[in-house]
Amino acid sequence: MSSSVHSVGFVGWRGMVGSVLLQRMQQEGDFSKISPVFFSTSNAGGAAPQFAEGDPGLLADAHDLDSLEKLPIIVTAQGGDYTSKVHPQLRARGWNGLWIDAASTLRMNDDSVIVLDPVNRAVIDQALASGVKDFIGGNCTVSCMLMGLGGLFRNGLVEWATSMTYQAASGGGAKHMRELLTQFGEIHGAVATELADPSSAILNIDRSVLSAQHEVDASQFGAPLGGSLIPWIDADLGNGQSKEEWKNGAETNKILGFSGSERVTMDGLCVRIGAMRAHSQALTMKLKEELPIAEIERLIDADNEWATVVPNTKEASMSTLTPVAASGQLSIPVGRLRTLEMGPEYLSAFTVGDQLLWGAAEPLRRMLKIAIGEL
Ligand code: HSE
Repeated sequence: MSSSVHSVGFVGWRGMVGSVLLQRMQQEGDFSKISPVFFSTSNAGGAAPQFAEGDPGLLADAHDLDSLEKLPIIVTAQGGDYTSKVHPQLRARGWNGLWIDAASTLRMNDDSVIVLDPVNRAVIDQALASGVKDFIGGNCTVSCMLMGLGGLFRNGLVEWATSMTYQAASGGGAKHMRELLTQFGEIHGAVATELADPSSAILNIDRSVLSAQHEVDASQFGAPLGGSLIPWIDADLGNGQSKEEWKNGAETNKILGFSGSERVTMDGLCVRIGAMRAHSQALTMKLKEELPIAEIERLIDADNEWATVVPNTKEASMSTLTPVAASGQLSIPVGRLRTLEMGPEYLSAFTVGDQLLWGAAEPLRRMLKIAIGEL
């Protein structure tokens, strides 16, 4: 695209992913090249937020196809229901603009690309050149995993991998994060007096905690999460696999552009834990060849500027390889790299990524910059 300032429609900018996206765009000065038009599903006609210079005007109606189709690019973090409803109608009218979307709805369509440019810039460029118009953010664990371990996957070194995830509350949404914190508060409240007394019996505290856990509001997650975990994320596919687990292999290969014999077999279990906004995962990989750990570390570190190898020591793992350490950061720490007892080609790894940054907003922000010729 050529003109220096580009009109871009934003839908779903007030939610968690949308807010992080706009925050990042502001931090990076992206609005110097973008003239935003903000849409709302509930407050059309209200005041639009001020992100770029000039009068921000009023919020447009996110269901008004006439307004939407005037824009060459639409970025949405509104969610799957909105995408399912509006995207087909716009395309049916012949709208030929770029649709950049955080929702999973269009991800696996043949005519869409999953965007993660540090890993698949060539796939994105080729798609743009061939007229692809739908660019979709990937599943958060898949994106974070590939940002960390892209060096091994992209060099064709992985025969198969399992990813066992430890996913944060933010993956469910804002209400889920609130629910987790409320649960923690209620559980603490149930034993606060005994806790303050160092001589109180721990088994009594434990019993009270358990009964509080049974009683907390778990309407968002469907089961208590504070002080516990939930070994199922997303829909039940009916074959023993959760939809989140299925995405692992399907999206990894699509992002990498691998087909046929290049495909890497990926599977594992996805688990929700009581972290706030960083997803972790433990991987076991079978490599196609035996490689020294130093070479594996070099490949991981060299793949992109965000992947950061953490030495496989207790001290480094505890200080930099945790959800608390990784939250709010773009760097993706990768540690616990070692050859497993199963044999020299079996490698373990543990990686953590901010679910709202590389897991959601950052690939979309960068796709928008690619679309306007600024990256
Ligand atoms: N499905 C993810 C989760 C959210 O529940 O953690 C982002 O892809």
